[in-house]
Amino acid sequence: MRDHNNLIYALEPKYYTDPAIYEKERQTLLATTWQFAGHVSQIPNKGDYFRLEVAGESLFCVRDRKDEVRTFYNVCQHRGHEIVQNESGNTRMLVCPYHTWGYDLTGQLRNGPNLDSVNGFDKSKICLPQVITEIFCGFIFVNLDPNAKPMDEVFPGVREELREFVPQIDDLQPLEFIEISEDCNWKVSVENYSECYHCSANHKTFVDGVIKPETYNVKHVGYTLQHTTECQNLESMTYMIDPEANAYATRYKSWFLWPGFSFQVYPGNVLNTYHWVPAGVDKVKVYRGWYTVGGEESDAIRQLAKQDFDTTVAEDLVLVESVQRGLKSRGYTGGPLVVDPAEGVMSEHSLMTIHNWVREALDD
Ligand code: FES
Ligand SMILES: [Fe+2]
Repeated sequence: MRDHNNLIYALEPKYYTDPAIYEKERQTLLATTWQFAGHVSQIPNKGDYFRLEVAGESLFCVRDRKDEVRTFYNVCQHRGHEIVQNESGNTRMLVCPYHTWGYDLTGQLRNGPNLDSVNGFDKSKICLPQVITEIFCGFIFVNLDPNAKPMDEVFPGVREELREFVPQIDDLQPLEFIEISEDCNWKVSVENYSECYHCSANHKTFVDGVIKPETYNVKHVGYTLQHTTECQNLESMTYMIDPEANAYATRYKSWFLWPGFSFQVYPGNVLNTYHWVPAGVDKVKVYRGWYTVGGEESDAIRQLAKQDFDTTVAEDLVLVESVQRGLKSRGYTGGPLVVDPAEGVMSEHSLMTIHNWVREALDD
């Protein structure tokens, strides 16, 4: 939103506090965008499955007999009981516990008690509804919109670039997932992630130890926000880096995929991820994922994850929860953004992009 002086304003507080807007977001924004489901290494064998929730819908991902990863709505096509009960497991058939209708791993109904007694009952016409699924460098994403554009179109070039920054990406497995519950709207947390205007005042370790602030910038490409910076003091980092290992060994970059996932690469080709799961108008779960080859134990990565948790994550938690309280104040109506035409670390231009995406999705 611009005012008569051409100032650009933040979204009005209701976008972060109004349960009706959150409900609309769930139906539109969250149900029409690519959402992270899990990593392929969680379901390595045929018949492996895990459950997940997207936009309030219970789903499950399963590896079928032909090694294809499929995602289904977790609902029986008989009378609506949930099919998969466990968080994860392995099965040959998907059997509904209510009246034991059995579906194969392609979602096709195969059997059920006394079905043959029903005149004209055609099993082949009954199938679990499927959700479109993509594997993106080993990461499983789903989209509830059957007409969604493919990820390479929505997030152009990211797959290729990620492969360059993380040459070992196909062999990675999660080493650690850290769950952080934040008492704020998911967009407060995502916006906080997407600008570094607050970094120098709040993230001493990050600013002094990792990045070179004067080289930091955020650019938007397709539905991504890409953070780049040069790194300082590679020798003073808490883990060893072989700068000669490959062309990207000393680089830092992150790719935020709208609306709730980010790949980050730290020097040494260290891949870690952010993942936001909205859990109500003023609650969000944030997951930090840390990956190593084969999920192998690594003191360096554990230490990095701990340092990140103790500094950046803890620092941001205090900020976002305070903002959420402020957004509910009668004394706040939405302030001007600091949009520097030259962009850079002290600019909030990336928030304009996010606000446009929000308005577009909500049709506002
Ligand atoms: S509801 Fe699933 S078998 Fe009846
Ligand atoms: Fe931050």
